Amino acid sequence: LVLILDFGSQYTHLITRRIRNLSVLSLCVSGTSSLQSIVDLNPRVVILSGGPSSVHTPGGPSFPDGFLEYVRENGVFVLGICYGLHLIVQRLGGEVRVGDAQEYGKMEIVAEGDSGLFGKGGRQMVWMSHGDEAARLPQGFKVVARSQQGVVAAIENSEKRFYGLQYHPEVTHSPQGMETLKNFLFNVCGVTADWKMQDVVEEEIKVINETVGPEDHVICALSGGVDSTVAATLIHKAIGDRLHCVFVDNGLLRYQERERVMSTFESDLHLPVTCVDASDEFLSKLKGVVDPEVKRKIIGKEFISVFDEFSKGLEQKLGKKPQFLVQGTLYPDVIESCPPPGSGRTHSHTIKSHHNVGGLPQNMKLKLIEPLKLLFKDEVRRLGRILNVPDSFLKRHPFPGPGLAVRVLGDITEGNALEVLRQVDEIFIQSIKDAGLYDIIWQAFAVFLPIRSVGVQGDQRTHSHVVALRAVTSEDGMTADWYYFDHKFLDDVSRKICNSVRGVNRVVQDITSKPPSTIEWE
Ligand code: XMP
Repeated sequence: LVLILDFGSQYTHLITRRIRNLSVLSLCVSGTSSLQSIVDLNPRVVILSGGPSSVHTPGGPSFPDGFLEYVRENGVFVLGICYGLHLIVQRLGGEVRVGDAQEYGKMEIVAEGDSGLFGKGGRQMVWMSHGDEAARLPQGFKVVARSQQGVVAAIENSEKRFYGLQYHPEVTHSPQGMETLKNFLFNVCGVTADWKMQDVVEEEIKVINETVGPEDHVICALSGGVDSTVAATLIHKAIGDRLHCVFVDNGLLRYQERERVMSTFESDLHLPVTCVDASDEFLSKLKGVVDPEVKRKIIGKEFISVFDEFSKGLEQKLGKKPQFLVQGTLYPDVIESCPPPGSGRTHSHTIKSHHNVGGLPQNMKLKLIEPLKLLFKDEVRRLGRILNVPDSFLKRHPFPGPGLAVRVLGDITEGNALEVLRQVDEIFIQSIKDAGLYDIIWQAFAVFLPIRSVGVQGDQRTHSHVVALRAVTSEDGMTADWYYFDHKFLDDVSRKICNSVRGVNRVVQDITSKPPSTIEWE
């Protein structure tokens, strides 16, 4: 295991992912985690990440007391990156100073020959982002690379198994960075590349069977999205029909969503799914509600009540309560990162009260099974592929828990807003698919606006609805750029929408990124 201690660098998750891409399991925990939690993970290598702090800042984050003794006694290799290098230098008795020349951006370094990190050495371009620098190294350390300005760019003490890079090897602007990381992990630390998705499947099935007793039953809310579908498929493979899934039609689904999703669950995945039609309940509770947060809360509450009913019904049928609940939690949700002091960065979603269908019924006293909680989204897709989950599921754009309720602005029950939106959305998405753009766009959808505008259709004046089209590219949904369609594409889509959806006479495109906007409109 390669353990990354996060000191708040914006690149920490990238290091974790890069190492996993080398078939080595890596986990990331807060840089200020307790010594015991590090010991429990039993890492072969610990990477100290970069971060915005300076080692001179009082109260700046650092590894726990006893860490240095622990790594020494257990033969653990340590690599410090940027701030991590400064921590090594300072905590082992060297000196870090505020640099004369701060180095930001691309620059060349010269590596000496015959080092553990660089092998034969030579020149390479790297990505620097630092103000502090190592002024005096602790005893036993040597400089193995310097920048053009003479600043220490890499250090090592092979006897004590300590290494440090002043630059960021994990970013693409350091083109040989991955070579250096590979060299470090495989040649210096002797790590083996044996973390494979197939092993993850087998390991998870084993864990599920150890956790869920032979008489126990498990319930799962399927949303039709990637995470819950892959999680349910995995659990089903482990315990068969003691898994009971529920798919809720809340009246806020996309065009023919219920039919499409249910038929794939049954025919392709053979999952035992009950479809509950709760659309009347949801829609009646949402009638007249215009505040986005109130809408979200109502929907969340309604899901709990549907789920509660499902669980009670199951208890009657089985003669016993289900004991477990599946959640499709992913690794980015559980990473306990170390927010830079004063950054205001927190782990939870604070902009909107997000919810996942599977994440609701905390008051139901069910034990949680979260088989994907160590995986990133792309890894979940790879795992899904091994489980034969069709690409039509794995490649789907994300869809928010509150569904179309956050895409009809204002009162969703007014007129036939939901129906209009479904038709517009279907034309837009189908056009994107036909143009071969679906897989390069992170998410695309239409939004129904609560305004009318004047138009002229068939020589008649119309006073009809306006719809907006939104398409974004993104890595993880946290930030996003709006997608540049070519004009011909937009022209075709706009014509198709106005010609075939009654009540729409105007189409606009959302050309804002996130931030300052969010991806959804509510
Ligand atoms: P925003 O609108 O916050 O959305 O920029 C970021 C991503 O999250 C999705 N989203 C949700 N997903 N439950 C979910 O499971 C929710 O309540 C929810 N709200 C937004 C959104 O579609 C985008 O992919």
